[in-house]
Amino acid sequence: MTFILAIDQGTTSTRAILFDKDMNPVQIAQREFTQHYPRAGWVEHDPEEIWNATVAVCRAALEQAGVSAAEVAGIGITNQRETTVIWDRASGKPIHNAIVWQDRRTTAICAGLREAGHGDMISARTGLLLDPYFSGTKVKWLLDMIPDARARATRGELLFGTIDSFLIWRLTGGRVHATDATNAARTLLYDIHRGEWSAEICDLLGVPMAMLPEVRDSAADFGETEAYILDGKLPILGVAGDQQAATIGQACFAPGMMKSTYGTGCFALLNTGGVPVASTHRMLTTIAYQLDGKPTYALEGSIFIAGAAVQWLRDGLGIIETAAQSGELAAQADPAQAVTLVPAFTGLGAPYWAPECRGAVFGLTRNSGPAEFARAALESVAFQTRDLWEAMRADWGQEAQVVLRVDGGMSASDRTMQGLADILGAPVDRPVMQETTALGAAWLAGMRAGVYPGMEGFAEGWALDRRFEPAMGEAARAAAYGRWQRAVTAAMAF
Ligand code: G3P
Repeated sequence: MTFILAIDQGTTSTRAILFDKDMNPVQIAQREFTQHYPRAGWVEHDPEEIWNATVAVCRAALEQAGVSAAEVAGIGITNQRETTVIWDRASGKPIHNAIVWQDRRTTAICAGLREAGHGDMISARTGLLLDPYFSGTKVKWLLDMIPDARARATRGELLFGTIDSFLIWRLTGGRVHATDATNAARTLLYDIHRGEWSAEICDLLGVPMAMLPEVRDSAADFGETEAYILDGKLPILGVAGDQQAATIGQACFAPGMMKSTYGTGCFALLNTGGVPVASTHRMLTTIAYQLDGKPTYALEGSIFIAGAAVQWLRDGLGIIETAAQSGELAAQADPAQAVTLVPAFTGLGAPYWAPECRGAVFGLTRNSGPAEFARAALESVAFQTRDLWEAMRADWGQEAQVVLRVDGGMSASDRTMQGLADILGAPVDRPVMQETTALGAAWLAGMRAGVYPGMEGFAEGWALDRRFEPAMGEAARAAAYGRWQRAVTAAMAF
């Protein structure tokens, strides 16, 4: 038998998913790890804990499936993007906790760069915006704060990587320091047009280029694992950031195709083909995947709070016990009320990019209660997706596909997906395959290993579970979206 092992190193948990030769997930092992919040707005992960969890879930998936390393044709890695690790080349030890993508500590650094007039140059090179979300200013912060770090990095003693790079380094016993183009494209240090690290931006941020990983295709040779880790040498053959892996897993290979993934946050990507489209609506330009040296670009809208709004109903307000109860509770909301939540708990991402904005609730009455809050939380996800949908389609200009492919935890809720179709005024397609992100990583590795089909054959395998058609009238949709737009404007002014 032949298997492919996908490692999905996400923001709150690490998973290993074993796929069989027909691309079916046959075994899943998962482990959550600690979120560290050293100060308000700061979020860190312990890279050692991530490493231990990664090895543990890989071993568990193989053991539980009764599969030996010799039966695994390759590993695909997909990962939370932007999260930043710096480690010592000699010892492999991180010099600090990883600074997570959600972390807002570099807001002032970003503002300083913007005021100094560097914003346009950085956007032109990287396709990104000056926001603490991306890795570059996190690297700068670490090199500024940790004594001697910049000098050591210049001497090549310290290495930088996103989580994929760190895992590749550890899995290969320090033989390979590499990343793929999709992860590089999230660092704020990579020129997505030239396909190389930007010396100009590295210089501006004081990031020595000696510490940067080599950038490879998303399906490429990333080295072999040390034999002792998984009881055999396994080739790492696929790497992609998790949202890009989901785009692949959703087979959004044709220009104009769009997917939206609902996890902690929500990330929508629109494939723009071989052309990087510069956004005039504050979307990001990014690399969807890079195969045979050729990048395929995407427009991306990133929302920081989607599923996290439901977590807030559960953990912050305590009005539900499980996330699954949110839809049922929301259905009981009074239709006459218009309670509106702007879930800017960690600032607002696309298209507002307001790191200092905080959450707000509008339209409360004496009758407002848990049901109205639940509906407002679910609606906020649909409204934010509509923001992205409008912006990306306007940027793309050409005939974009009028269907949105969805995946991620919240897409399992029929009510929420129906609400999304209503607010978008467009059909929403949910595939049979729930594990789109892991599948994307597995396909990259399996295709490279020669056990999975090429792009066309893979796309033919995409199967629809259910299409949600919009059922709301045009006037009601316009009124609801107008209410959201007024609420966001007010929250940002607060
Ligand atoms: O850009 C951040 C994103 O990659 C995180 O995804 O699924 O780990 O929340 P997730």
